Amino acid sequence: MGFKKVFFHTVLVFCFGASCSGITGASGQGSGVAVEMLGLTPGASTSELNLNWYSGNQRYYQKTMVRVFKGEELVAEESGSFGKASAGRNFHKATVMNLEPDTRYRYSVSSDGKSWSEEYEYKTPKAGAFRFAAISDPQVNAAGTSKQGKQDSESAWFSIDQTSASGWAAVVDRIVSEGVDFILSAGDHVDKTSGDESEYANFFAPPALRSLPFAPVPGNHDKHCSFMYHFHLPNEYNAPAECEGDGFKTIEKVANYFYLYNNVLFVGLNTTAYPGSTDDAKFYVKVFDEVIEKAKAANSGKYTWLIVNHHKSTATIADHVADYDLQRYVEAGFEKLMDKHGVDLVLAGHDHVYARSYVMKAGGIWNTARKKYEGGLVVDKTKEQISLAENPGTVYITMTTASGIKYYDLFNSSGHLFVKNNEEYPYLVKGLVGSKAYMAGNLPLSVNIGFQHKIPSYMIFEVDGNTIAVSTYEVDKETPVDSFVMRK
Ligand SMILES: [Fe+2]
Ligand SMILES: [Fe+2]
Repeated sequence: MGFKKVFFHTVLVFCFGASCSGITGASGQGSGVAVEMLGLTPGASTSELNLNWYSGNQRYYQKTMVRVFKGEELVAEESGSFGKASAGRNFHKATVMNLEPDTRYRYSVSSDGKSWSEEYEYKTPKAGAFRFAAISDPQVNAAGTSKQGKQDSESAWFSIDQTSASGWAAVVDRIVSEGVDFILSAGDHVDKTSGDESEYANFFAPPALRSLPFAPVPGNHDKHCSFMYHFHLPNEYNAPAECEGDGFKTIEKVANYFYLYNNVLFVGLNTTAYPGSTDDAKFYVKVFDEVIEKAKAANSGKYTWLIVNHHKSTATIADHVADYDLQRYVEAGFEKLMDKHGVDLVLAGHDHVYARSYVMKAGGIWNTARKKYEGGLVVDKTKEQISLAENPGTVYITMTTASGIKYYDLFNSSGHLFVKNNEEYPYLVKGLVGSKAYMAGNLPLSVNIGFQHKIPSYMIFEVDGNTIAVSTYEVDKETPVDSFVMRK
C-alpha cells in the first residue's frame, strides 16, 4: 500500500440529465451514468476486497479506479478492468489488497479517473470470530417483466408494496441489523433467465450492498452474461474470460471459486447445468472435485471449516425434489464428493423451501443393479447439537426465497411437482424411492427439519473457532424458526 499522503478529496456524483440515477438507479438506462449497481464480493482472503459496478458505455468511462481511505488518509489507490456489459453499459471490476483486520475504511470508485463516486464504508472483520448471513433465491424481478415485480400471491407475509424488490430490501435490512461481515448466496438473484438489467437494479438497490461483500453462485435464473459482469469473484477456476452469445452456456462454466475467511474455507460451485445423463453430470462433479482440491491445497493448514454454496439442493423436499438433474448430480457423486473432501456444510436453494438434513455421510454405494442407493446416508439424528468431531459428515441446507417471489409446496400439494413419474429418485424414508411414494407423503431420507411457511427467510452463522451457531430467521419474526450448533 504505497499511498501514505493525506488526501483532501471531493465527493462528486457524475451524471448527466435524467439518467442521474446513481447507484440505486432503477431507472438509469446506462448512457450517462458514471457509477451504478456498485457491489462488493469477498477477496481471496479477508485482507482483500473485490468491487464491481456498471457505468454508461461512453468514452468518458474507460477507466476503473478505487480509492481507499482510513480516516482522512488515502491508504490505497487501485486500478482495475472494464469491458462492455449489457444494455449499452460498461462493467468495472477492481481488487483492493493489504487491508488490515477490524478496521473501518471508506472507499470511492471512478469510471473515468476524474470524477469520483460518493464514499461508502467497509469494515474488515476481526481476526477471530465472525458472522455471516446466507440467503438464496431473492430472484428479484421488476415491473415490466413477466411477473410485474410481484411476490407470490399465496405469501403468508407481504412487503410494503408486495414486490420482490421491497421483500429483498426488507431481508437485507434484517441481515444488517444482525451485524454480519458478509452475505453468502445460493443463487437465483434475479428472475428473468435471459437477463434484465432493471431486475439487477432492484437487486443492488439496498444500500447495505455497498458495505457488505456478497458471495454469489449462479442459479438457473442467472444464466445470462450479466451475472459475470456484475460479480467479481476471487480465485475463479477455469472461467471463460468472455461471455458468448446470450451467456446461457458460458455461465455454466464460471463461478467455481474459493476464498478464505478467517478459519473458514468457502467454495462456491456452479450447479446451473442440466446434465442429460449421469455420465454428463460426472463432468461437472469432476470440475467440483478439482476446484475443492485447489482450494484446499491453496489454504492448507489455514482453516477449520469447509463450507460449500451452490444452487440446486440435492437434499430438498418440495417441487424440485424428484428432478432428473438433481438425481444425475447425486448419482455422479456430488454428495460423495462432499464426503471425500470433508465438507461440513452445504448451503443451497432452488426449491424455495427450507430444509435441513441430518449429518449425512454419502459414502454409500449407488447399486446400479438394484437401482438403489445403499449405505449410510443418515448418521446423526440429534437436532440441536451436532458434533462433527465425533461424527464427521455433512449438513445440507436448502434455503427458501429471500424476497418472497414464489414458494414451492411439499408432497405435490399444489400439483406443481416438476417430475411426477421418477421411479428412481428421490431416496425416501422407509426404503422408499421415487415421485409416487413422495407424493404419498414420504419425505426424503436426508430430512431432519423442513417446512414451507411462505415467508422470506435468511440465515445467520456465528463462527467462533471450533463452533458454528446457526439460526434461520423469517423476516417477520424475532426468534429463529430453526437453530443448531455445529462443533468439531
Ligand atoms: Fe429460484
Ligand atoms: Fe433455481
